[in-house]
Amino acid sequence: MANEFLVARAFSPTNIALAKYWGKRDLNLNLPQNGSLSVTLDGLGSTTQVEFSSQTNEDHFFLNGVEQFAPSALKKVKTVLDILRSRKGISLRARVESQNNFPTGAGLASSASGLSALTLAASAALNLNLSKENLSEIARFGSGSACRSFLGGYVEWKKGEKPDGTDSVAKSVADEKHWPLSVMIIVINEKSKLYPSTDAMELTRETSPYFASWVEFAESQIPHIRKSIIERDFKSLAQLSEENCIKMHASAMAASPPFLYWAPQTLEVMKRVWSLRQKGYRLFFTIDAGPNVVIFSDDPQWDKIQLEFKDFDTIKSRIGEGAKIL
Ligand code: PMV
Repeated sequence: MANEFLVARAFSPTNIALAKYWGKRDLNLNLPQNGSLSVTLDGLGSTTQVEFSSQTNEDHFFLNGVEQFAPSALKKVKTVLDILRSRKGISLRARVESQNNFPTGAGLASSASGLSALTLAASAALNLNLSKENLSEIARFGSGSACRSFLGGYVEWKKGEKPDGTDSVAKSVADEKHWPLSVMIIVINEKSKLYPSTDAMELTRETSPYFASWVEFAESQIPHIRKSIIERDFKSLAQLSEENCIKMHASAMAASPPFLYWAPQTLEVMKRVWSLRQKGYRLFFTIDAGPNVVIFSDDPQWDKIQLEFKDFDTIKSRIGEGAKIL
């Protein structure tokens, strides 16, 4: 196989969960305890190039121009590469170069965009011709949330029932044109998060007295969140998503030892969102595993709402398309 045919590049957007994945039922297969539902963000994500080559004996991974040696980062990349190598029946090592166009590792799902872009680029480099469902299943091994980035719009990751996880894949709820919500990320801290999601989820599962009730609640909420999206019921989606977010964080806060992703400004933004909603504006928030807050709105006065947060650094986006080969 000639080296030059084994290169490809892909862009994958990040996604933000309105119904969170928090807790694994199988650590090795990276299977979730509960289903989750996310929106794909337009233009914010990772551009990744993968080149398989006989010139190297090891996989190399560069993130934003810097070679990564941390075992946790390399493990995720190698896991995905190994699955694809075994599908193709080759053992060539790869050089992976990935660039994020938004803060990395600060609870803005950079692992979702990174691992999905890697899966798509590597499978294209190997000419594997995989379906979105196959890609979703493979990316899930690298990072759970990555399985949702292959599709645009509103995406559900089914918890799945099978022990081998083959039914734990992402499905479209509605595409990006169905309900074009405006999105604004309030960047409170750009630095990498203090508690990596896998460790934090495991600690919550093992020690939080609220974990079992979180899982039950999260599963039971999915059909309602799906319905509010299909019916474009903003009031309902706002309430359900905020409740989901706060309950996920509450389960983590009750772990032993307890931990907290929020910063004082996180609370300031949450309260500002609630106060604007009381005044009749249509907006709600969610927060992933970090201090940053993501605001969603379908309000015709979106410009005015944005001004209310002008004292913060923000990143504007909207609902977008899924991953693509470049
Ligand atoms: O897929 P991971 O390991 O990056 O974990 C994602 C966890 C949350 O972002 C908090 C929730 C989610 O569903 O994306």
